[in-house]
Amino acid sequence: MNVLITGATGLLGREVFRAFQKNEWNLTGTSFRRKSPGLVRVDLSQPDTIHDFLNAHLPAVIVHTAAERHPDVSLRDPAGTRRLNVEATAAIASWAATHGAFVLYLSTDYVFDGTKPPYRPSDKPNPLNDYGRSKLDGEQELLSRAQKSSVILRVPILYGPCETLAESAVTVLADQMNRLTEPTLAIEDWATRYPTYTPDVAYTILQLVEYHLAHPDFHGIVHWSGNEGMTKYGMARVLAGQMGFPVERLVPNPAPPSGATRPKDAHLDCSALEELGIGRRTPFAEAIQAILHPA
Ligand SMILES: NC(=O)c1ccc[n+]([C@@H]2O[C@H](COP(=O)([O-])OP(=O)(O)OC[C@H]3O[C@@H](n4cnc5c(N)ncnc54)[C@H](OP(=O)(O)O)[C@@H]3O)[C@@H](O)[C@H]2O)c1
Repeated sequence: MNVLITGATGLLGREVFRAFQKNEWNLTGTSFRRKSPGLVRVDLSQPDTIHDFLNAHLPAVIVHTAAERHPDVSLRDPAGTRRLNVEATAAIASWAATHGAFVLYLSTDYVFDGTKPPYRPSDKPNPLNDYGRSKLDGEQELLSRAQKSSVILRVPILYGPCETLAESAVTVLADQMNRLTEPTLAIEDWATRYPTYTPDVAYTILQLVEYHLAHPDFHGIVHWSGNEGMTKYGMARVLAGQMGFPVERLVPNPAPPSGATRPKDAHLDCSALEELGIGRRTPFAEAIQAILHPA
């Protein structure tokens, strides 16, 4: 079976690629700016070329992780964000609908406004920023073109094995502590987040694809998330403990973050996947230990 992972150089895509390599599938992964041996370079922000690319590889399963996922970049470049997050998704969805391929699309808790958690997949989205709107519009392109042969997986803030600590919004806190020259570091203590480990999401995606292959009618929107709610300040305290960084140098900042507007608590209800026995959660402290002090 031909399986395509878009964004296989990304924080999540690398783990998805790794998880799928363990199966005997004919796997293709895409990169864009990063060079990575074994991956195929493609610019998905040129939607006109996507059908040619897909015709050359003929995937039966497409895991679409590639995206612009930084809300502050989307704030500065909404048009570029929409080309990748919305138009590329529409092109992939229409090709998949014509060729009978299954698409698993990664989306975000930022489709919700964070005022009434926890959110079930059927709850009404109300994104607060351009990034969340673009991911929601990507969902809608998929639903309007390939509803019966796709799954939308929404996840919250991700962290995992990284190329640099600054790569994720969680491990960047360790980077800030490493670079600190002032006596104290102020860290946002406003939004409740549910940090989710990329190897767990990759495993969940593999389970979802296998479930779809066994139950071809399975489709729709699902949620997966870690279950430890904490602010960035709370995460920083765990990181500090494992880095030998004095926690008293961390100062909670109760103000919302600057830049793109964020939800205060967009906790995702994951009960549908839990009932199917799909999903995996590694405790936050254990996962951070594995990232900061790999065996
Ligand atoms: N990270 C999070 O906290 C988070 C939270 C919720 C949802 N998500 C969703 O999860 C998915 C994966 O996110 P991530 O954190 O893995 O993102 P990431 O680390 O920023 O990786 C983005 C991927 O997209 C590729 N890409 C960027 N521009 C491209 C283009 N023009 N053409 C083709 N590929 C392009 C990148 O390739 P190069 O690096 O080679 O350029 C990279 O492989 C996204 O759909 C995101 O919306 C992420």
